[in-house]
Amino acid sequence: MIRLQNVHKRFEKLEVLKGIDCEVRKGEVVCLIGASGSGKSTLLRCINGLESYEDGLITIDDAKVDRRDASIRDMRQSVTMVFQRFNLFPHRTALENVVEGPIHVKGEPRAQAEEHGRELLAKMGLSSKANNLPAALSGGQQQRVAIARALAMRPKAILFDEPTSALDPELVGEVLGAMRELADEGMTMLVVTHEMAFAREVGDRVLFMDGGLIVEEGPAEEVLTEPRHERTRDFLRRVLKQ
Ligand SMILES: Nc1ncnc2c1ncn2[C@@H]1O[C@H](COP(=O)(O)OP(=O)(O)OP(=O)(O)O)[C@@H](O)[C@H]1O
Ligand SMILES: [Mg+2]
Repeated sequence: MIRLQNVHKRFEKLEVLKGIDCEVRKGEVVCLIGASGSGKSTLLRCINGLESYEDGLITIDDAKVDRRDASIRDMRQSVTMVFQRFNLFPHRTALENVVEGPIHVKGEPRAQAEEHGRELLAKMGLSSKANNLPAALSGGQQQRVAIARALAMRPKAILFDEPTSALDPELVGEVLGAMRELADEGMTMLVVTHEMAFAREVGDRVLFMDGGLIVEEGPAEEVLTEPRHERTRDFLRRVLKQ
């Protein structure tokens, strides 16, 4: 569904993606791991058209992702993103945050969007919080609203950029639980995460990125327990020690 071929991206002189090849198939959960600065967020942002890339090709269902093309708007709706910091509108309730995209971007009738929005909040365990402002929600609840908001666009796939790393440890589980449920339902997901247990249990495949390249990839269990590359082993040792 999502395919990257020899993707290069630079910020001025700094080459951040140095020829990325990878794909995410329909219904697959792919976890992307790697040290800070290795280019994980940049990769997701290129897939979502938030950043341009200079070389190579990114396609979603065989259509080219091109930031300058009018089609990018539709692509952003078909592959939505969940960020580390939830980016909710502070003066809008949970439900208003969820229905904003469907109503204003997709032109869904308000009643239909609200019905769907309430279903999604219920699915995230937030039925009673629909009318709360973000400030009146915990970090874990805000992140679940952000996931409901991503789902409200009825996407083909969701990109998650470290969705739990800004949360207090006791709130991480509820967000990972919600993501696990989505995975079980067959949602296509590309997840940047430092949660190795999640990657191992929920991930079909793991990609390890280092210095702008995918150094190793394979079945989650294999990459996380018997990595082939020294750099992957180093990284895992450091992460698992924390
Ligand atoms: N807008 C930008 N302008 C210039 N350099 C940038 C920009 N965004 C990212 N970079 C640089 O690109 C490199 C990769 O950044 P990126 O955010 O993709 O890393 P990451 O793997 O997501 O790291 P982290 O785990 O800390 O989130 C870093 O060296 C970063 O400083
Ligand atoms: Mg990042």
